[in-house]
Amino acid sequence: MHSDSNFPVVDPNLPNPMEAPRPGDTSPPRIVLNGVTKTFAIKHTQSMKETFVAKIRGKQTSSKFEALKDLTFSVPEGQSVAVMGHNGSGKSTTLKLLSGVMQPDGGWVRTRGTLGGLLEVGAGFHPDLSGRKNVYLNAAILGMSREEVDAKFDAIQEFAEIGEYIDTEVKFYSSGMYARLGFAVAIHTQVDTLLVDEVLAVGDANFANKCMDRLEELKERNTTMFIVSHNAKQVKRLCERGIVLDHGRKAFDGPIDEAVEFMREHNRR
Ligand SMILES: Nc1ncnc2c1ncn2[C@@H]1O[C@H](COP(=O)(O)OP(=O)(O)OP(=O)(O)O)[C@@H](O)[C@H]1O
Ligand SMILES: [Mg+2]
Repeated sequence: MHSDSNFPVVDPNLPNPMEAPRPGDTSPPRIVLNGVTKTFAIKHTQSMKETFVAKIRGKQTSSKFEALKDLTFSVPEGQSVAVMGHNGSGKSTTLKLLSGVMQPDGGWVRTRGTLGGLLEVGAGFHPDLSGRKNVYLNAAILGMSREEVDAKFDAIQEFAEIGEYIDTEVKFYSSGMYARLGFAVAIHTQVDTLLVDEVLAVGDANFANKCMDRLEELKERNTTMFIVSHNAKQVKRLCERGIVLDHGRKAFDGPIDEAVEFMREHNRR
C-alpha cells in the first residue's frame, strides 16, 4: 500500500464552491456526508485455536483500522463526481456507505432520491441462476418492477452483448461477461444517483466506450453520479469534480482537471 504522508488534508470548514447548487437550482444536495468515520476490525488469528493460544499468551487477536477518517462533503443535484486515490484509500468504502450496505461508526450519511449502480462486478448475481433470471433478480434489488424489467429486457440483453449465453448459469460466464451484464442492468435502471465502482475498467475497449456514451446520456438527463475510477481520461470526460482520498482522508476536492493533476503530482513523488 502507498504510504505517502505528503498529502494535505482538506479543512471541512472551508467553503467549497463545488458544493454550491447550480444557479437557479433550489433543491437540496443529493448526497451529504458529515464527519464520517469507518473502522474495521482486522483479525490477526485464523482459527479458534490460534485465537485461544494468542489470548492465553496475552497477545492481541485483532486491531482496529480506520478506513475513513472525518470525511465531509456534499454533492449537489446533477453533479458528476470522480473519487480517486491509491488502493486502499477508502473509495469503495465510501460508496458502500452511500449505498447503505455499510453504516458509519461516526458521523452521518444522507442521500436524497433513488440510488443505484454497480458497486462490485457481479454483486447481487446468483451463480446458479441464468443470466436472464439474474437480470430480473438484480433489477428487483435495484427497485424495478417485473413489468419495468420486461419492458427493458431486450435493451439490457442487447447492451450486454452476451448473446445466447443469457440462458446459461452465470457461474459459467467469463469475468468480462459478468461485468457486461451487471453494468447493463445497472444503467438501465432509472435512479437519481448512480454509483459506479471501477467497473468501467473490466470490459474491453469497445464495451468501455459504449458504457461511457451511456453514462454521458444519463448525465445529460441530470443524473447525479459518483464514480470511482483510476482512468484520468474517462473521469475528465464524465465528471466535473474530483475528490482525492488518501488513507481515508480527503486530500483534494475541486475541479476535475485539478484533481487529476493533483493525483499526478503526488504519484511522481
Ligand atoms: N470489511 C472489511 N474488513 C476489514 N478491512 C476492510 C474491509 N473493507 C475494507 N477494508 C480496508 O479498508 C481500507 C479501504 O478499503 P477500500 O476498499 O475502501 O479501498 P479502495 O480505495 O476502494 O481501494 P482499491 O483502489 O484497491 O479498490 C483498505 O485498507 C481495506 O483493506
Ligand atoms: Mg475499491
